Amino acid sequence: MSMLHGKRILITGVVNTGSIAWVVAERAQQLGGEVLLTAFERDRERTLEARDELPEPVDVLELDVTEPEHFERLTEELRERWGRLDAALHAVAFAPRAALAGDFLAADLDSVQRAFATSTFSYASLARVLASLAPESGGSLVGLDFDAAGAWPIYNWMGVCKAALEAASRYVARDLGPRGIRSNLVAAGPLATRAAGGIPEFERLIEAWEEMAPIPWDPEDAGPVADAVCFLLSDFARSVTGEILHVDGGFHAVSARLRRAE
Ligand SMILES: NC(=O)c1ccc[n+]([C@@H]2O[C@H](COP(=O)([O-])OP(=O)(O)OC[C@H]3O[C@@H](n4cnc5c(N)ncnc54)[C@H](O)[C@@H]3O)[C@@H](O)[C@H]2O)c1
Repeated sequence: MSMLHGKRILITGVVNTGSIAWVVAERAQQLGGEVLLTAFERDRERTLEARDELPEPVDVLELDVTEPEHFERLTEELRERWGRLDAALHAVAFAPRAALAGDFLAADLDSVQRAFATSTFSYASLARVLASLAPESGGSLVGLDFDAAGAWPIYNWMGVCKAALEAASRYVARDLGPRGIRSNLVAAGPLATRAAGGIPEFERLIEAWEEMAPIPWDPEDAGPVADAVCFLLSDFARSVTGEILHVDGGFHAVSARLRRAE
């Protein structure tokens, strides 16, 4: 039987076919899952175009993750359509430029708060949706992380938001575990998506991966990340929660790599 057969999965964060979430939606359908997408109003037209490229027809529900009432409406729409929700993918992040680049200490509070609301607090809001609709057999929430164990040369307050996302996922795992609802993150290596294009000097991260990752890393291929997400969404990961699965070619595991002598 296919890994996601019979699973009803909500996928946020599709803006185009390069979105990590789009590749997850494609894989999830191929693995037998039933998928609904959400769209951020500003990106809706692009999301609909990307939706049309998926193997199976899919509906798109509205969700701005900074609007609490959108989560309430989403819960009711899902209840009416599906009656239950087995799994959800959180694939949303945004930071104003002041929080993402330049002098870390000079960032203004408003920019940092917007980054946190969009990229971190929204994870708990999506967990609430899943908690309201998950069947007795449990559920699975997966989020997308960029390893926050250390400070990057760029990324600034987004790195802080990801560190907080890692903590939030552990608290969700703690609180929803007794109901069989799991919470896990996939820490991806750098991928050339629209969000990544908004990070100044993002190519420096790609260069670091070329230098360090034990397994060659392709920043154009979100497939390995999507496959790991599908595993965590599925019952194959039924005893995995509070975990951060690094899908980064092994970058996180090495401290330095010596160039081979020519
Ligand atoms: N691209 C990378 O290198 C990389 C690496 C690790 C983790 N991630 C994470 O993957 C996730 C998905 O990003 P991506 O790289 O696929 O980029 P993307 O640009 O394709 O997706 C980002 C999504 O966030 C949505 N969004 C932004 N503000 C929103 C709001 N207020 N409400 C609802 N949706 C909103 C956009 O519509 C878009 O669909 C993010 O959490 C990102 O931090 C990306």
